[in-house]
Amino acid sequence: MAKTDFNDRMLSLGLARVSEAAALASASLIGRGDEKAADQAAVNAMRDQLNLLDIRGTVVIGEGERDEAPMLYIGEEVGGGHGGDTAPEVDIALDPLEGTTLTAKDMPNALTVIAMAPRHSLLHAPDVYMDKLAIGPGYRPGVVTMDMDPAERVNALAAAKGCSTHDITVCVLERPRHEAMIEELRTTDCAIRLITDGDVAGVIHCAEAQKTGIDMYMGSGGAPEGVLAAAALKCMGGQMWGRLTFRDDDERGRAAKAGITNLDRVYTRDDMVTSDVIFAATGVTDGSILPGIRREPGYLTAETILMRSKTGSVRRMTYRNPT
Ligand code: FBP
Repeated sequence: MAKTDFNDRMLSLGLARVSEAAALASASLIGRGDEKAADQAAVNAMRDQLNLLDIRGTVVIGEGERDEAPMLYIGEEVGGGHGGDTAPEVDIALDPLEGTTLTAKDMPNALTVIAMAPRHSLLHAPDVYMDKLAIGPGYRPGVVTMDMDPAERVNALAAAKGCSTHDITVCVLERPRHEAMIEELRTTDCAIRLITDGDVAGVIHCAEAQKTGIDMYMGSGGAPEGVLAAAALKCMGGQMWGRLTFRDDDERGRAAKAGITNLDRVYTRDDMVTSDVIFAATGVTDGSILPGIRREPGYLTAETILMRSKTGSVRRMTYRNPT
C-alpha cells in the first residue's frame, strides 16, 4: 500500500477527536446568547486538533472565503503532513458548530461536524443555498425525485413504504421561503417536523427513521451543509439530491469561482461525495441523533458518531474529559 493511501480506518479516530474537541470547546458557551463566541471557540479547537493529524488536508467546505474567515477558510491547508510527501492528501468539509443559534439559545440538535475524503472527491459547494431532498435507506433508487412536487414526493414515499401519507413525517427548516411548500405538504395529511436550524441533522434524521420518526427531508438550506449531509448519508445509507439556487449575480459568481459551470445540475449524494468518506459529529446540545455535552462535577462528557462509508460502520463513542 502506498504511504499516501487514504487510510480511513486509521484516520477515523483522529477525526472523532477533532469533532469532540470542537464540541467541548463550545460547551461553556451553550445558552449564553453569543453565537460568534461559541463558533469561534469551536473553530479554534477544531483547527488545533486538525493540525495534529498526519494529513495534507485542504478545507473545501469551511468557514467561508479567505477574506471573510481567517481560520478554516476554503482552501486553507490543514494537517501536520504538509512539507513532506508521505501523508495522505485529503479534502475536508467541516462545520465547527452546525447550529450557532441553537447553541447560543440552548436549543436541540447543535452539532460539530467534519468529513474527510481523498483529495478532489468532495464537491466544492459555494456559499449559496441548495434545494435538498433526502430519504433514508431501503428504498429503490429514485423513488422520489427533485422534479416531483412536494405532495407527489409524499405520495410516492408512502406507497413505497406501504403506509398512508398520514404516517409519513417530513422534516423542513422553518423559513418564510418554505411557506408554500409547507402548505402543499399539509394537503397530503403528512406530519411536518419543523426545525429552526441545523439541516445537516435534519437530513441525518432520515437515515435513522425508526429512531427519529423522520422519513424525508426537503427544502433549501446552505449548500456547504448539503455536502456534509451527503457525506453522512453515504456512510449511513439513504438517498439525497441537491440543486444550487442563486439569488443574484454575486451568488452565480461564487459558483463560477468554485468551478461550477452547470448551474441547474441536480447533484446526487455520490456526485457530492465521489469516493469513500469518513464522517464524525459530536452533540453540543441534546438532540435526536446525539446527546449534548454533559457536565458532571469535574468532568465534561461528549458523545460522537463516527462513520466510514467503506464499511458502513457507525460507531457511537462517549468521551469523558476532566475539566
Ligand atoms: P449556522 O450554524 O451556520 O448558523 O447554520 C445553521 C443553518 O440552519 C444550517 O443548518 C442551514 O443549512 C442554514 O443555516 C440555513 O440558512 P438560513 O438560516 O439562511 O435559512
